[in-house]
Amino acid sequence: MSNVIGCDIGTSGTKAIVVSESGKILSKVTIEYPMATPHPGWAEQDPDMWVEAAFEAIAGAVRKARVSGSDVKALGFSGQMHSSVFLDKAGRVLRPALLWCDTRTHAECAEITRKVGEAHLRQWVSNPALEGFTLPKILWVKKYEPKLYAKIAQVLMPKDYVRYKLTGVLGTEVSDAAGTLYFDVKKRRWSRELLGKLGISTLWFPQVVESQAVCGHLTPAAAKALGLKVGTPVVGGGADNTCGAVGNGIIKTGDVMASLGTSGVFFAHSDKVKVDPGLRVHSFCHSVPKKWYLMGVTLSAGMSLRWYRDTLGLSEKELGRKSGKDPYNILSAEASRVPAGSEGLLFMPYLMGERTPHKDANARGAFIGVSARHGRAHFARSVFEGITFGMRDSLEIFRELKVPIRRVVATGGGAVNPFWRQMQADIYGEEVVTVNSQEGPAYGAAILSMVGAKLYPSVEAACSKLIRVASRTSPHAKQAKLYDSWYAEFRKLYPELKNSFRTIQEKLG
Ligand code: XUL
Repeated sequence: MSNVIGCDIGTSGTKAIVVSESGKILSKVTIEYPMATPHPGWAEQDPDMWVEAAFEAIAGAVRKARVSGSDVKALGFSGQMHSSVFLDKAGRVLRPALLWCDTRTHAECAEITRKVGEAHLRQWVSNPALEGFTLPKILWVKKYEPKLYAKIAQVLMPKDYVRYKLTGVLGTEVSDAAGTLYFDVKKRRWSRELLGKLGISTLWFPQVVESQAVCGHLTPAAAKALGLKVGTPVVGGGADNTCGAVGNGIIKTGDVMASLGTSGVFFAHSDKVKVDPGLRVHSFCHSVPKKWYLMGVTLSAGMSLRWYRDTLGLSEKELGRKSGKDPYNILSAEASRVPAGSEGLLFMPYLMGERTPHKDANARGAFIGVSARHGRAHFARSVFEGITFGMRDSLEIFRELKVPIRRVVATGGGAVNPFWRQMQADIYGEEVVTVNSQEGPAYGAAILSMVGAKLYPSVEAACSKLIRVASRTSPHAKQAKLYDSWYAEFRKLYPELKNSFRTIQEKLG
C-alpha cells in the first residue's frame, strides 16, 4: 500500500492529512493556534509554533490512519505565503515571523519602488512592492532592528522552515519563492539584479526546486517522532494558493479558482507569464513545472465573516453553541431571509487594508447605506455580499486582461455553504463548480508528494486521475442582474472614501 502526507501550515492552524495513492483521505488532524497583533496592522507568529503543530498534526494523522510508517512514500508541505522566517547562522529563529497580512511596511514599499523603479520591478520580479510580500519585511527589520538584522543568515518561508526542521535541509521551491518579491518569476530563479540593487546578500536564500521535486529526507529524530521511516522523501511543496489550485485541479488554461479562506483569492492558471500592465493582480509561479498564474487577493474574506461572528454576531454564535449548529450556517440562514443587495446596505471588507484592486494598507471596513429598516439579517447578508463583491473586483481584472475563463472552481468556506455558492455564481455571473476534494492546500501538497514519490508521472496526470467535479451551480439571471447593479454601487465607494481612510489612519498614528 502506498500513501502520502500533505500538511498545510496555515494562519489559523496546521492541517495534516494522510492520503492513499488512489486519492482517498485516510485521516485528518488540525491543530489551531493564534496570531499575535502587537500593534494595529501588525501580524506575527512564532515559527516554532508551526513546527510543533506540524509534528503533532502529522503524528496524529499517521496514528489515526493506522498506516505503517513504511507505507508512507513521501510528505509535502503547503503554507501561508510571504511570511518571513529570519534565522541566524546556527539555524535558530531570530524573531517572530511577520505575516502576509501584516501591513506595517508601507514606507518600505515606497522605498523599494523609489530605489528599484516600477519598470525594473515589472521586468525583474513581475510584481509591485506590496506590504504583505517578504522583501519589505526584510527592510523593516533592517531599519528598526539593526542588531537583529546583522545576525540574519537565512530568510525562509513558513513551510520551508518546517521542512528544514524535519530534514535538516535548507530549501524552497518556485511557488513560495515567487511571493518574496526578490524572485525572477519569468526565469524561476532568485533575482540577483533586484537583490544587488538593494544590497541584500543572495546567500540568505536557499536552493530553489520545482514544487514536486524532492527537497530533503526525514532525519532519524523527525522520523521517530512522526512514526515514519528514516529517509522518507519530503518534496518542495508549495504556496497555499498553488497547492489549493493543484488540489482543485486548476492546471489548464481556462481553469480559475475562487478560494474563500482567511483571505479570498481569485486564481487563474496561465501557460505563460502574464503581467498586468497596472500590476493590480500578482503574477507568480505555479506548482506545476513551466506554468504560472495570475492572482487577486482580498485580504479579509473569511476574516470579515469571523470578525462579524465574534462582534455583531454574538447572539448567533451563542445560538450555535447551544444548538450545536455551525454559527456560520446560522448567519447564512438569517442572511437568506432578506433580498439580494441587502436592501441597499453595502459592506466594504477592508478590515486589514486591501490588496486587489486598491493596494491600500489604510483602507478599512465600512457599512454604507444603513437605514432604520435594516436588521441583523441585512447586516449578515451584506457581509457575505461585500466579501464576494471584493472577490469580483479580481475577476473583473481577469476579464479586462482577457484571461480565458472556462469554469470557476469554488473552494474554502465559500464552497461548502450552498447559500454562499449560489451568491458567488450570481455575483460572478459564472457557473461555479466544486470538486470531490475539499481539503484544498493540504490535498495539493499530498498530490505533489505523490509525484515526488513517482506514484504518478506528473502533476497533470495525478490531477486528471484524482479530481472530479462534485457540484455545479449556475447563476440565476434575475439575481445576477440585481447584483450587477449593486456591484456598480460597491465599486464607487472606495474612491469616495479613500481619503477619509487615510486621514483616519494618520490620526491613529
Ligand atoms: C497571497 C496571500 C494569502 C496567503 C494566505 O498572496 O497573501 O492568500 O497566502 O495564507
